[in-house]
Amino acid sequence: MKKIAATFFIAYLSIAAFSQQTVSMQVNANAGKDKISRFIYGHFAEHLGRCIYDGFYLEDSTINVLKQGRIRLDVVNALKEINIPLLRWPGGCFADRYNWSDGIGPVAKRPMRINSTWGNVPEDNSFGTDEFLQLCGLLNCEPYIAGNVGTGTPREMMDWIEYLNFGGKSALSEMRRANGHTNPYKVSFWGVGNESWGCGGDMTPEYYADLYKRYAAFCLDYPGTPLKKIMSGANSDDYNWTEVCMKNVNPGQLWGISMHYYTLVNNWEHKGAATNFKEDEYFKGLKNCLHIEDLINKHSAIMDKYDPGKKVSLCVDEWGIWTDAEPGTNPAFLYQQNSLRDALIAASSLNIFNKHCDRIRMANLAQTVNVLQALVLTQKEKMVLTPTYYVFDLYKYHQDATLLPVNFFSPDYKYGNESIPAVNASASKDSNGVIHITLVNIDPKNKITVNADLSGAAFKAAEGQVLASGSFADVNTFDKPDKVKPAAFSDFKKNGNDLSVNLQPMSVTLITLK
Ligand code: AHR
Repeated sequence: MKKIAATFFIAYLSIAAFSQQTVSMQVNANAGKDKISRFIYGHFAEHLGRCIYDGFYLEDSTINVLKQGRIRLDVVNALKEINIPLLRWPGGCFADRYNWSDGIGPVAKRPMRINSTWGNVPEDNSFGTDEFLQLCGLLNCEPYIAGNVGTGTPREMMDWIEYLNFGGKSALSEMRRANGHTNPYKVSFWGVGNESWGCGGDMTPEYYADLYKRYAAFCLDYPGTPLKKIMSGANSDDYNWTEVCMKNVNPGQLWGISMHYYTLVNNWEHKGAATNFKEDEYFKGLKNCLHIEDLINKHSAIMDKYDPGKKVSLCVDEWGIWTDAEPGTNPAFLYQQNSLRDALIAASSLNIFNKHCDRIRMANLAQTVNVLQALVLTQKEKMVLTPTYYVFDLYKYHQDATLLPVNFFSPDYKYGNESIPAVNASASKDSNGVIHITLVNIDPKNKITVNADLSGAAFKAAEGQVLASGSFADVNTFDKPDKVKPAAFSDFKKNGNDLSVNLQPMSVTLITLK
């Protein structure tokens, strides 16, 4: 009797285990209403470590790479490939100690300052406003400038905007012309401070909301360039910050309010290693990354109270995994490697941002080159594209496409006594009617079959690509740059309007339906 019961129990367990690895998904191809703003796929470049100098902008002009002036074109071309839509600059915390007038005019005459935010290293200001705008021109992306509220003045920000955007005759627009740029640059995205609750001035939300209104009053629109002003928003779960700012500032006075959230594996004191970690740190990294959806829901609910028409964007203008710096590097430079785990973090975060595109219309991964969750790492002539870069490559088709509702119950990925959803996904339809579905399987051991019902989608052909690797800790290095890279994917079956896709363990899959 005991034996029969045990057999039934084992059979039950295996059915349960098996059924748990199959997901029924509905993708409603005709129910899309919200656009996934391309600015969700934005990036961030701060005067920090080797992001600007030695990343985008050569310090050593003898380095033999494709370049324009001192701008590295190998980096530019890689970012153009993923359709980089927006670049935020000059910080971060650096922005609230930066005076824009230090960085214009003949380079030899620019003052030497200290980058007191990041390691007290010399800042020669050779990369300034015109160089940044030149970089954005080469990238064909929108510039997003973070203004200085912490140590600056409304006058400084007003002058900066006039220098960049005024098409008529004034001392500042003439200065721009003398510096080689006849036409106004038309910079519309402006951050009014950065992390004003912390490095940007340690303010209370009440004080900042008043200051925001003062600055905003002097951030002037010039013909053809209405400004998109963005309030410095909350640190992760500081809901009071969002509440006070939204309550005190009329939604008509801002385009967006930001929110910053970094995925930490452990805590700020012991962040966790970027390489050679085990499953416990893989699990914690993914779990903490998925927490961002809770933050988005709660900040959005507060915004809904004051802006029910959802006119104001929630801008996640800094996000990504922050690990310990690579051993042997300057800890103030925040240089970290980037693994398959980090790619899954990026892919899951982007699926979440897509899902909430009715409120989130901008997000910027921190940071583009050589800092934090970078897309590109450089070492003299060499450049390596990280696993995270390839996620942005697979996801670029969602930019400005219409979000399609996706419904499913995910099986769990269990580790120890904890569990998180193993699968996340998003789908969109582009202006040619092509559907793209991005599917993430976080489970490091189990394949998961997704049976997708695509009612309303009349597609003739399906194609796939997958980003996966043997270990979640796999990275691309200067010696082995192609270890983690997308490959063609064909482990799916089309049956009329249904699609059955076998997701590999720890993978990001793109399915294109034409
Ligand atoms: O991205 C690094 C830093 O993180 C930024 O300068 C700051 O805004 C945030 O705290």
